[in-house]
Amino acid sequence: MKSSRIPGFYKMPIEERVKVVKEFAGLTDEEANMLLSFSALPKDVADIMIENVVGTMQLPLGIATNFIINGRELLIPMAIEETSVVAAASNAAKMARPDGFKAKATEPIMIGQIQILNPARDAKEKIEEQKEEILSLANAQDKILVDLGGGSKDLEIRWLSNDMMVVHILVDVRDAMGANAVNTMAEAIAPLLERITGGKALLRIISNLAIYRLAEAEVIYKKEAIGGEEVVDKIVKAYEFAALDVFRAATHNKGIMNGIDAVVIATGNDWRAVEAGAHAYAAMNGYKPLTTWSKLESGDLYGKIKLPLAVGIVGGATKVHPMARICLKILGIKTAKELAEIMASVGLAQNFAALRALATKGIQAGHMKLHAQNIAVMAGAKGEEIEIVAKKMIEEGKIRMDRAKEILDEIRKK
Ligand code: MEV
Repeated sequence: MKSSRIPGFYKMPIEERVKVVKEFAGLTDEEANMLLSFSALPKDVADIMIENVVGTMQLPLGIATNFIINGRELLIPMAIEETSVVAAASNAAKMARPDGFKAKATEPIMIGQIQILNPARDAKEKIEEQKEEILSLANAQDKILVDLGGGSKDLEIRWLSNDMMVVHILVDVRDAMGANAVNTMAEAIAPLLERITGGKALLRIISNLAIYRLAEAEVIYKKEAIGGEEVVDKIVKAYEFAALDVFRAATHNKGIMNGIDAVVIATGNDWRAVEAGAHAYAAMNGYKPLTTWSKLESGDLYGKIKLPLAVGIVGGATKVHPMARICLKILGIKTAKELAEIMASVGLAQNFAALRALATKGIQAGHMKLHAQNIAVMAGAKGEEIEIVAKKMIEEGKIRMDRAKEILDEIRKK
């Protein structure tokens, strides 16, 4: 059976890493070469994705190793500019082995909002009476989605003030992120809602607070795998800090989103939508952490995450961006639901790594190590030299290019 536990992956030359990923995911030569090209978005593709294109903005794409999610070994592609995130996720996933993460997601139901101004007093009742007609008009907009088992399923109606009402259309968007399908349906039913309610439809747009499209993941960290019961207690206290204090909760959730966004970006998904959804969800009852951590009777650590994840594997950049296609292939998933389950697990792992580091040695130590390794590589260190140069610079407290070059010269002379 293939394993995502790949000792020394971080020390391999890039070509070697790509080879490992290629074998793991069954990438073609062309796909592996695309990874190695470090320029995967062609000019003509970029030019049709947005307006006024003058170039591309690249991010490093890393692979988090060690993940097991719902019993599956997974390599996780993460696109992010920040050091330590990929290493921390890999490390957190390693400590969660062999059981790994258990995750599940709801059906992919998105909300479209139609704002109605000055509706009749009995507008709510009237809409309810004509619900089937409204839903079938919505479904007439997207036969393909309906054939796939998706489509508009229900309506919700709320008065927001004496003269303003909102109608939610709930749409199962299957494997899409869903904004296009939902917005088209919202616009299509708005004139009918105007006729029914006697009001005026103003905004017709998706809500990014996707409370019916939730993903959750849980994990148990054995106390001995993470440094003992003392570390378990410290992590629980670190969580309680976030649960009690909004200033900490913001940073706690930021750390979670470090992991989630990196996978969202790698797979060509809309990270602003995911961010908006995550933070709005966190704020529904006063801004709270998206994870919870507690100590089990065994003394082990139990963690859980739950958040909306509106991500797709069809349409938009997920299909157009060659790198997003490769990343989806590396994940080897078949549905958007699975993608959301993976993202939730990565978020939970990322949060664990941050809390463990913060509650023990602090995060700067890890950052410095990576920073030193980066400097060593930039100075020309290869293979084992990287560790040696980095370690020496940390010991000396001098993490600089000139010093890295000197140390490199010294060890090469020996
Ligand atoms: C840094 O990008 C993320 C952390 O600040 C998250 C946290 O504090 O939990 C380390």
